[in-house]
Amino acid sequence: MKFWWIPALSLALVACAPMPTQRDVMQMSGVEMYESFCASCHGAGGEGNGPVAPLIKIHVPDLTRIAQRDGGEFPTEDVRRTIDGRFDRPAHGPRDMPVWGWQFYRSETLNDPDERARVDALIDRLVVYLRSIQKS
Ligand code: HEC
Repeated sequence: MKFWWIPALSLALVACAPMPTQRDVMQMSGVEMYESFCASCHGAGGEGNGPVAPLIKIHVPDLTRIAQRDGGEFPTEDVRRTIDGRFDRPAHGPRDMPVWGWQFYRSETLNDPDERARVDALIDRLVVYLRSIQKS
């Protein structure tokens, strides 16, 4: 089932905090976004041990060791694309990670270049935050 994670995620979000509105998201720093959207699965410190992780059948990766797994270099572009997900191709198989690029869009302005820039800026904040928590 492709969207099995939706109930788990909704539960986690309800348990933690009400879903911030789009306006709130724009005011959030990378760490605040991480805590609101990512920590439920990836853990408060990014180590892959969030409260939702045991409910997920596949392993939730440790985000503090992305660089280590990639030979010491943080793969900025790959990470951005993983979070964003807008560029995902069906040929790459189903993904268990929510597609944040789409989540951050306001649906009525999907093709607006300003909206695209806004979403890119949000994803960038997360990427910068993840780069800052890498362990060597
Ligand atoms: C519902 C649980 C869940 C949530 C919430 C979640 N992730 Fe993930 N994430 C996963 C899983 C599971 C994977 C493993 C890859 C896959 O199956 O898609 C993953 C993979 C990743 C990867 C790739 C790691 C690697 O080493 O290749 C990154 C980066 C990542 N997540 C960042 C984030 C960020 C940033 C957020 C918040 C915006 C987030 N995740 C929210 C479950 C989640």
